[in-house]
Amino acid sequence: MLTVALCKGKLIEPTLELFAKAGYGAARPAADSRRLLIPCPEIGMTFLIVRPTDVPTYVEHGAADIGIVGKDVLLEQDSDVYEPLDLGFGACRIAVAAFRGHPGRDRLSSKIRVATKYPKITERYFNQRGVPVEIIKLYGSIELAPIVGLADRIVDLVETGNTLKAHGLVEIECIARSTARLIVNRASLKLKHAAIAELLKNLRSACGSSGLAPRAAPPKHVRTAGRKDKRART
Ligand code: PRP
Repeated sequence: MLTVALCKGKLIEPTLELFAKAGYGAARPAADSRRLLIPCPEIGMTFLIVRPTDVPTYVEHGAADIGIVGKDVLLEQDSDVYEPLDLGFGACRIAVAAFRGHPGRDRLSSKIRVATKYPKITERYFNQRGVPVEIIKLYGSIELAPIVGLADRIVDLVETGNTLKAHGLVEIECIARSTARLIVNRASLKLKHAAIAELLKNLRSACGSSGLAPRAAPPKHVRTAGRKDKRART
């Protein structure tokens, strides 16, 4: 029996579609249920429904053998898990944004205030550029922060760019790209090797035949963080 941690939110539907395509259709009831633990003995799996930011914790500690989570969460948490498969869906990017017309506020002498759900990625990015920042940790609606004067900039996920545009913000630099990843607990990989290898093989071939959406590349005018940012790149 494999325990699989799925994250609530945008990734759950495409995850279940992929599992169904790979021959694990019994996972379907997970999507609209209030249940957090869903045994599916017919496919040899138990699904846990958890918050995206908790998926790496469940997998790292062995409470789940497998997890599906965005690369953005993995980059922020630096968890000790094996990451064998890029599932391709959920494409977006972690970007720096500011009010249109105010993108050039980096000054070595003054701290800029940056609101974000990703304090570690943000700190790493600005540290590498020698730009002193005060990081304001928020849990959502990040685009609001510059409007109400809480921050000069934001570091947030951008998918279509519509939320930025709707709030008069522009993307300045793409820090990293993100897609959904399959992660595996390191001990489970050895102890349940046959079952995990079989799952990986089936998901890999379902990924290959699923005509996945193209990666969310930033628009041409947006810089992409350079090689110095290797740790923060996908
Ligand atoms: C995410 C992200 C942006 C938005 C970007 O928010 O934080 O706000 O999606 O998408 P777009 O580029 O397609 O407009 P989410 O919907 O997860 O809610 P949150 O703001 O509460 O985190």
